[in-house]
Amino acid sequence: MDTPLKHIAFIMDGNGRWAQQCGLARTEGHKVGAQRVFDVAKRAFKHWNIPYVTLYAFSTENWKRPAYEVSFIFKLLATYLKHKRSLFFENEIRLNTIGDISKLPENARTVLVDLKEQTKKYKDHTLTIALNYGAREEVLRAISQLSEEERQHITWEALEKHLYTAGMPDPDLIVRTSGEQRLSNYLLLQAAYSEFYFTPTYWPDFDDEAFDKAIEEYMRRTRRFGGI
Ligand code: IPE
Ligand code: IPE
Ligand code: MG
Repeated sequence: MDTPLKHIAFIMDGNGRWAQQCGLARTEGHKVGAQRVFDVAKRAFKHWNIPYVTLYAFSTENWKRPAYEVSFIFKLLATYLKHKRSLFFENEIRLNTIGDISKLPENARTVLVDLKEQTKKYKDHTLTIALNYGAREEVLRAISQLSEEERQHITWEALEKHLYTAGMPDPDLIVRTSGEQRLSNYLLLQAAYSEFYFTPTYWPDFDDEAFDKAIEEYMRRTRRFGGI
């Protein structure tokens, strides 16, 4: 099915509360949440023909969490990517990241760097994972990368080239699960004209049906970009 969406971005929230409601440890919620990732990517790429899917997996603020949870999340990420490796090739998906991955534990970083390198030939489907990503860090980094000359007469076009998302279309739709209605430092500049969709569903319960509801809601919106 074709939609006018070029880019859909998710804030995968509610893993902890999902686990809590099942009487499980928060880490179990992350495990089940991770299993949703490929289903969501497939639904976007294959069913809805959306070329860019971006997932918020770890924010610059998430380092505040207990060390065991942080280390669990990155171990899970490495295991998950190794396990799903062949799916990237079978479905011709390019893996991309936004955020400063140099601060990630070595194991996770190595898996990411390798898979990104091996899938960079694929152009039609890009799965971007936001890891140690924060929009404020992103904008400071972009400014610091401008040349002296560019900095004198700073333009949006020049700045944009230094964002982690350079070359990607802005998200048409940002979906946040778990009932929270905030951006939590996600894609603040890229979201200038994004549509927002908030659902009380926790991320581990976010299935194809829940996904399709978000798209259907998006189709009912009128985007004006400042025009009439
Ligand atoms: C989202 O789920 C995953 C990450 C931020 C890594 P949470 O862990 O934030 O789950 P809740 O919000 O506590 O339920
Ligand atoms: C946002 O979720 C970050 C990710 C989903 C990775 P949080 O659970 O960290 O956000 P807050 O703290 O509720 O705003
Ligand atoms: Mg949360």
